Amino acid sequence: MSGKKNLNNYPVKKIIGKKIILRVLERGDLKRSLAWLKDSSVNMFLSQNFCDYTEEQELKWFKFIQSSRNDIVFAIKDINTNLHIGNCALHKINWGKGDCELGIVIGEKGYWNKGYGSDTIMNVTKFAMFELDLKSIKLNVYKYNRRAIKVYKKCGFKLIQTQKKNHLYNGKYWDTLIMELKKT
Ligand SMILES: CC(C)(COP(=O)(O)OP(=O)(O)OC[C@H]1O[C@@H](n2cnc3c(N)ncnc32)[C@H](O)[C@@H]1OP(=O)(O)O)[C@@H](O)C(=O)NCCC(=O)NCCS
Repeated sequence: MSGKKNLNNYPVKKIIGKKIILRVLERGDLKRSLAWLKDSSVNMFLSQNFCDYTEEQELKWFKFIQSSRNDIVFAIKDINTNLHIGNCALHKINWGKGDCELGIVIGEKGYWNKGYGSDTIMNVTKFAMFELDLKSIKLNVYKYNRRAIKVYKKCGFKLIQTQKKNHLYNGKYWDTLIMELKKT
């Protein structure tokens, strides 16, 4: 961590959108989250292949996140039913430079393509920019994840770099796109 700012200066309350409520991830959310990570039709889009991920590894990760002043993970809840449908995160928050990395997974596949991801990203990026006072949010996305790219563009992210053919999926090498949202 650099600078005097850290997450302790920003007690995080719930973030309320049109379709979602975001609240800080709790230990009780882990079992559900692990099932999503192990689902190959979900983890094909993620930065890591979580097929063999164990409860112990997830708990270790959760303890790290809880103690980190540079990472925050939210549970995404359906505003109408309160069902936990996914997680999103601001990682590697650099308080000095004012930047971080965004991650999102909607694990409940019945909730894909219904606007929950867009609403989550709009609200979590607003929180990062205007509550945490960050200036830039970056993310990585595989070129075959056309839905995610569409959502990121809709939320204001711009392509800043293409890492050529560095990700092996389904017998083929794919590009990874680096996108950025800047505070204007
Ligand atoms: C990516 C993800 C967060 C998007 O959230 P979502 O709630 O499904 O997306 P939304 O409904 O808000 O928006 C989807 C948009 O993509 C469009 N879309 C869907 N499939 C598409 C495709 N194959 N190609 C292009 N656009 C597509 C939809 O039409 C919609 O656009 P619109 O709002 O203009 O109608 C979610 O699907 C998810 O978590 N997927 C699995 C994990 C993942 O990919 N995480 C991101 C890793 S970088």
